[in-house]
Amino acid sequence: KKIAVLFGGPGSEREVSKKTAESVIAALKTKGAEVVEVDVTGPDFDVPADALIAMNLIHGTFGEDGQLQAILEERGIPYTGAGVESSRIAFDKAQSKERFVAAGVPTPRSQNYLLDGSQPLDISIPLVSKPPREGSSVGVNICRTEAEWVSAIEEAKKYGTSTLVEEFVEGKELTIGILGDQVLPIIHIEPVDGFYDMSNKYPWLNGTGKTHYHCPADLDEATTRRVQEAAMAAFKSCGTEVYGRVDVMLRNDGEPFVLEINTIPGMTSSSLLPKAALAVGIEFPDLCVHIIELSLA
Ligand code: DAL
Ligand code: MG
Repeated sequence: KKIAVLFGGPGSEREVSKKTAESVIAALKTKGAEVVEVDVTGPDFDVPADALIAMNLIHGTFGEDGQLQAILEERGIPYTGAGVESSRIAFDKAQSKERFVAAGVPTPRSQNYLLDGSQPLDISIPLVSKPPREGSSVGVNICRTEAEWVSAIEEAKKYGTSTLVEEFVEGKELTIGILGDQVLPIIHIEPVDGFYDMSNKYPWLNGTGKTHYHCPADLDEATTRRVQEAAMAAFKSCGTEVYGRVDVMLRNDGEPFVLEINTIPGMTSSSLLPKAALAVGIEFPDLCVHIIELSLA
């Protein structure tokens, strides 16, 4: 079976996508698939006519935000993961938050703050500032002081005319993989220093970060259930399908707050979703095949 693996993309997560693709391509080959590698830099890319499916491994801009999905729909090429509309909503942290709120999914209070300073800030410090449409923590700043907020505003201007400002939730960083109807075991992410930023996520790329991962997370049964239910409800609220990963903060008092959904999550063999799948006995090559099967179903 010929699978076209689409990777790269024009956005800030290009290198991460290449790493994801390396792992997935190797895994698919062990399953006997014939793989065609397609390095995508924009709308002009070719998928062989005899490919069974396009496996989309492009994180962030263009690949995860519905644009690529729309092109594949137009060309009649089956592809992995969420559809056009749900990708568009899930990728936008402000829009997905509106869906969470409407569905009763707990999420930190937030404001879409215009960077021209034309409106008062109505979230108090400590706060988190994030570009609404980026991934891999690109441009994310936790501001604990006024001075940090002032420099976060300057950085945010690189990404657009507004920044999503959220109340900072003090607690544990959790992530929950979703595979079809299945909620995978919770992973507790514990960076040795700071939060799970680029350096702690990808020490192979740009840093010296170090992170401990606990899967399944050491949480009591009731909390586990509450977190997993919130993750699935968030996933469904955006109409998302097939697979994904939901990032959650578990406040120190045990209340979960959903931050965001990732519809093209990192898929190196040591990434989070593969770790969670392995915890229920799904080996990485089987996970890759399963995602294709779920997408075609
Ligand atoms: N945006 C990165 C790839 C992730 O969520 O895994
Ligand atoms: Mg993300």
